Amino acid sequence: MNPLSHVAIIMDGNGRWGLKNKNSRNAGHRAGLDTVEKIIKETIKHRIKFLTLYAFSTENWRRPKKEINYLFKLLETFLINKIEELNNQNIKLKIIGVKNFSKKLNNILNQSEKKTSKNTKLQINLALNYGSKFELINAFKNIKKDKKKISEKNINRYLQTYKTPDPDLLIRTGNTKRLSNFLLWQLAYSEIFFEKKFWPDFNQKDYNRILNKYRNIKRNFGKI
Ligand code: IPE
Ligand code: IPE
Ligand code: MG
Repeated sequence: MNPLSHVAIIMDGNGRWGLKNKNSRNAGHRAGLDTVEKIIKETIKHRIKFLTLYAFSTENWRRPKKEINYLFKLLETFLINKIEELNNQNIKLKIIGVKNFSKKLNNILNQSEKKTSKNTKLQINLALNYGSKFELINAFKNIKKDKKKISEKNINRYLQTYKTPDPDLLIRTGNTKRLSNFLLWQLAYSEIFFEKKFWPDFNQKDYNRILNKYRNIKRNFGKI
């Protein structure tokens, strides 16, 4: 059985789910939030230590303003209402990506990180305004600035995922098979599962099916 310490998820398909079921993309984002809560609970049950969730990419700014505003309002409300509960569950929240949102949201994000920084049960890395290429460029720039040498160890150290082991497993829902600028370096040896269901339809059973499959894969890391 493979050890499992880090699951990364590209939560895709909210918009299509919303259009299909409620004639509104935003309704899909709202419904996707319920899946986030279910998957967090299940992740804790499995004693997985790290969960990285792709919530907004550097490319998602190309969407209509109305959708972007809705997404960030949703996040804001979620954190205001739930951070206490997450904290009580011993969950640590870390944002990866660039926090250049409204002053209000930046404050909420910083406070949520600070409040939960000592927690140890599960670390949730929330990827917000995250792009892997930007993260890598930034890492290289800082390595150069600090006059360090370019090495695997230093690159790991200068990425925002420093201290998070590489994902063992990547799940992308929404029936699309691409990485969309997510964790390009960190996913070098991850097991990848593409799931047909849209994110709001994805449930504990689907998650468990993937985790079980993962457990039995022969991971070679170049060996035989
Ligand atoms: C993923 O769902 C969530 C975000 C990118 C914020 P989408 O909004 O991309 O849903 P589809 O792919 O359009 O259905
Ligand atoms: C990836 O989904 C980003 C998130 C899930 C946050 P997208 O829906 O933005 O990806 P593309 O544009 O279809 O590749
Ligand atoms: Mg999408």
